[in-house]
Amino acid sequence: MYTMDNKDNQAKEEVKMLKTTLSDMLEIEYPIIQGGMAPWATERLCVAVSNAGALGIISSIGVGMPQAAPVALADDPDWKDKSPYELLRAVLQWATEQTAEKQGIFGVNVPLAEEFGEVVEGLIRATIDARKEDEDTANRLRVIITSAGNPAPWANLIKESGALWFHVVPSVAHAMKAEQAGADLIIASGREGGGHVAFEPVHSMVLLPAVVNATSLPVVGAGGFCDGSTLAAALSMGAVGIQMGTRFIATEDSDFPEIWRQKILTSNERGSHVGISVFGPARYLKNKISQQLYELYNRGFLEGYKEGTRLEGRGMQQLSKSSDPDECVFLGGEVAGRIEQMPTVRELIEEICGDAETVIRKLPKLVTES
Ligand SMILES: Cc1cc2nc3c(=O)[nH]c(=O)nc-3n(C[C@H](O)[C@H](O)[C@H](O)COP(=O)(O)O)c2cc1C
Repeated sequence: MYTMDNKDNQAKEEVKMLKTTLSDMLEIEYPIIQGGMAPWATERLCVAVSNAGALGIISSIGVGMPQAAPVALADDPDWKDKSPYELLRAVLQWATEQTAEKQGIFGVNVPLAEEFGEVVEGLIRATIDARKEDEDTANRLRVIITSAGNPAPWANLIKESGALWFHVVPSVAHAMKAEQAGADLIIASGREGGGHVAFEPVHSMVLLPAVVNATSLPVVGAGGFCDGSTLAAALSMGAVGIQMGTRFIATEDSDFPEIWRQKILTSNERGSHVGISVFGPARYLKNKISQQLYELYNRGFLEGYKEGTRLEGRGMQQLSKSSDPDECVFLGGEVAGRIEQMPTVRELIEEICGDAETVIRKLPKLVTES
């Protein structure tokens, strides 16, 4: 196993050399995307990731259908009266200001699931207008990442934004549809990932190279990535970078409750499973409620939907109230079993890229002359 002890100045010099098509497309230092993680807004996390030189993402559904006041509107007593469009405009303005000093690059994630109805259009329009009306936002809000739905009907609207368009897929067939719709990059999301997953289980080790082979677009791997060796593995399978969700939750800068971060730190590699969630199956970290969601899912998604979404909703509400991990629900990936520390976002990103480079430099030594 490759260790993470390469933190001297020489390593920092080396980090700068890990450049890929993703870093070139976005003009970012590190080929890492922080995945959208609604229903949390991920505002603080987005800013921390952007300012550390990777791509931070605002979870627009978490902003537009909020659990709590967005950080940007914490002092506004009328925030609850605002539309999803207005909420996202305020958050994008705030993110632009917070990333100004370091010129951090960021993006917006918009899940396209039909359950979100007209909210989706308001969120995309807010992104378009934010870029049109503010030069700084246009310069640094570089990408819209769509997921969880058919991208084709949204192509014209997204193109109007002038931003790059990345789309998240769970299969080769979905990747081909996104390419035909005009996406600029594909994010191949394996079944080990946290949050919503496809009904058909295909994990990153199979999905990522299959999508790379099938499409002419650049591909980013998501699901199961957390460190230098997994970044190096993604690059060796033809990816141009990685998207991480679970790993970013357990950082000092994340917006997520402490109880959730501790749950990740104490999970092992068998500590997650797939259960019912609001718009499809989702991967949860195991506890009492997730066990029920898992059992309901295995009996039949439609059959268990009503009871499952009731349990999920109650568990989510408990996140801000309860200190008992069995009363909450925690979306999270298999990779939680590989996460043992809670670094800052900057430490994490620098360590991952430094270690990936060390791994890549060691690999040629395995090829010997016969
Ligand atoms: C709590 C949580 C919420 C998520 N919500 C979203 C979302 O709103 N939109 C989306 O595209 N992906 C969502 N995801 C998936 C992540 O963006 C990312 O692709 C995934 O976590 C990668 O797998 P990993 O957890 O193994 O890193 C979510 C993941 C988690 C853990």
